[in-house]
Amino acid sequence: MKDYVRVGLIGFGKQGSHYVRMFIEHRLFSRFRLTAIADTCPQKLQWIKDNIGPEIECFDSAEAMLSSGKIDACIITTPHPMHPEHVIMCLQHGIHVLCDKPAGVHILQVQQMNREAEKHPDLVFSIMFNQRTNCAYRKLKSIIETEEYGKVRRISWTINNWYRSRYYYDSFDWRGIWKGSFGGTIMDQCPHQVDLWQWMFGMPDKVTCRMGFGSHHDIEVEDEVSAIMEYKDGCIGTFNASTSVPNGQNTLEVNLDAANIRIRGNSVFVEKFCMPEAKWQQSPRGIYEKMDVAPEVEIPTDGKNAQHKGVIEAWINRILGKGEGSNDGKDGLASVMLSNAMYMSAFTGKSVSLPLDGQEYYNELMKKVKASKSKPPVKDPLAPVRETFQIKDPKQVEAYFGIVERV
Ligand SMILES: NC(=O)c1ccc[n+]([C@@H]2O[C@H](COP(=O)([O-])OP(=O)(O)OC[C@H]3O[C@@H](n4cnc5c(N)ncnc54)[C@H](O)[C@@H]3O)[C@@H](O)[C@H]2O)c1
Repeated sequence: MKDYVRVGLIGFGKQGSHYVRMFIEHRLFSRFRLTAIADTCPQKLQWIKDNIGPEIECFDSAEAMLSSGKIDACIITTPHPMHPEHVIMCLQHGIHVLCDKPAGVHILQVQQMNREAEKHPDLVFSIMFNQRTNCAYRKLKSIIETEEYGKVRRISWTINNWYRSRYYYDSFDWRGIWKGSFGGTIMDQCPHQVDLWQWMFGMPDKVTCRMGFGSHHDIEVEDEVSAIMEYKDGCIGTFNASTSVPNGQNTLEVNLDAANIRIRGNSVFVEKFCMPEAKWQQSPRGIYEKMDVAPEVEIPTDGKNAQHKGVIEAWINRILGKGEGSNDGKDGLASVMLSNAMYMSAFTGKSVSLPLDGQEYYNELMKKVKASKSKPPVKDPLAPVRETFQIKDPKQVEAYFGIVERV
């Protein structure tokens, strides 16, 4: 086995160019060599030749790159409805694959992708669950698993910090419409939090959700969401999200049997009760008496938040047989199912029990897709790339390829 991996990328748009900039600017990953990029947009391929150089081979289709023999592994950053089809193509070509979030847009296509992954246990398939690397969420997950403060009773998560302008929707020909993105705030901005929800708290048994479709933007899909997640053990959670709030906040509070926990930024804070609430309420008290709660203190974490870099490194290391820690891409199904349940409830006006039937959801989703209108082509397809791929010193590009040549 070589001690480096030849990596290709499918989809050189805003996120794809962000990864390439990250590799170059931070001189990342001596264990891998970015060798090829596939994109169906000719202007982007020309832009790569003009601005990055001949070291990266360009292909006008994923198929051509995957069958070129030039790559061992591939990162997928195409629009999310295409993720399962591109993952399947990689696996069928014997290529390790890291797919950006979300795993797909509906259950059936993700199940099909996972069936293909089952056939290739020798290939490393991961999903870009970069928010799972955040020390605050990892700490909260371990607190819940160890039941240090008892069971979770209530969860309140408001995610209003994904503000998006009209320019954002106008910059992509697939975003904002059902037949392009198959969803809005939940499918496009919040896959991270939907995934973290099921990863930390487990899948709810029932979901009730209301969405505002194009409430504050000229779009077909949702820009306002309020969902109630119910668990059989009595825990109730609320998940609120909006892409319309300037200076919106991301606030997560979890109320447990014996403590309240709040996440602010990358920090975790706890308010410990003097005893579990269920025990305290059994003794005779003053009618409005409140129990003693210790002042809020910060809980130490390991402070690590490796994000995209960490996920890519773990994936590469596992391909090289030099480490564990990369996630299993098949886990992407749970968050797609949870997001589909939110849409199903919003579409039908009813509560939805989990697990959700993939075919039933697909039928409802297709009603939206069939009624969806096309967008005019974007005026400047290179704008997202130019905005993202700003390398301060052009010599860094040369230096990066110099480094990887010596691997
Ligand atoms: N993990 C994160 O933090 C994060 C952040 C932003 C975006 N994303 C994800 O990245 C993905 C892409 O988002 P974006 O903002 O870069 O979109 P984008 O439209 O800028 O990029 C998509 C690219 O894919 C190309 N493409 C389309 N169809 C193709 C095909 N069949 N074969 C090859 N190339 C094709 C397009 O030409 C375009 O260059 C989305 O799924 C999004 O959810 C992840």
